[in-house]
Amino acid sequence: MDNAPTFELASVERKDIPRLAHIHVVACLPDNAFGLYFATPTEFEMKVTQMLESQVGDPTWQHLKVVDKKTGVLAAWASWNTPSDAQIRERDGKAATKIADSGNGKGKGGFDFPLGLPTYVQEDTARWLEKWTRGKRHMLCKALFTEPSFQRQGMGNALVKYGNQLADQASLPIFLQGSPFGYPIYAKHNFETVQYLDVDLREWATSAKSNDKGYGNYRFRYMLRLPWTLPKTS
Ligand SMILES: CC(C)(COP(=O)(O)OP(=O)(O)OC[C@H]1O[C@@H](n2cnc3c(N)ncnc32)[C@H](O)[C@@H]1OP(=O)(O)O)[C@@H](O)C(=O)NCCC(=O)NCCS
Repeated sequence: MDNAPTFELASVERKDIPRLAHIHVVACLPDNAFGLYFATPTEFEMKVTQMLESQVGDPTWQHLKVVDKKTGVLAAWASWNTPSDAQIRERDGKAATKIADSGNGKGKGGFDFPLGLPTYVQEDTARWLEKWTRGKRHMLCKALFTEPSFQRQGMGNALVKYGNQLADQASLPIFLQGSPFGYPIYAKHNFETVQYLDVDLREWATSAKSNDKGYGNYRFRYMLRLPWTLPKTS
């Protein structure tokens, strides 16, 4: 039996941005929390496009795509951010002097989070990261999405493995926020949940009112993977 992968990994180019944004949105459609983040999938896709335009090509970001060999279709992608020492110092300085980052912690390449649930979650995540990475070099896994018709073919595994190799080469820990849909794949690849945020989505879903309409408890997992290599000595 031929076990050769049916897909290949490649660097993202700017021309891929519309497809990446589309995959991000369709992969998140079953996720009730994302349904509360944006009024419509079109608005969501527009925000993801803007975010990617500010990230792709920036030296602190890495974006990788998976292409299905048979069809040539871009089927999955992931991104990682390695903040520079100067960016970490600037963030820590702001946190220490409590100069709020205009409320939602948006740095370069950051997401323009709408008010309400997205900002509440973003602020909690930013506090966690600041506490765990103060003054320390680290990587962030910021995105991992497979277009639904290509899921369960190993593309997600290949992307997570690639990011973990990058972190091992640089001897850096990787931090991420995992959704209930996303966290099993990270757990499988040795990420540990070190903190979590439980949210009752009914409190944020105005349409739920007295009937929860499928909204309920939702856990954001804050996860960490330590490198399997010793820190570099200078
Ligand atoms: C998470 C996601 C990227 C996985 O992509 P994928 O290409 O289907 O992943 P793989 O085929 O490599 O499967 C990887 C592992 O993920 C887990 N997994 C994938 N789909 C799953 C599902 N429906 N239920 C439970 N576990 C699942 C399994 O542990 C699987 O390992 P296996 O090799 O034992 O089957 C994809 O399901 C997705 O885009 N989900 C929506 C967006 C999302 O949650 N992204 C992560 C944000 S935190």
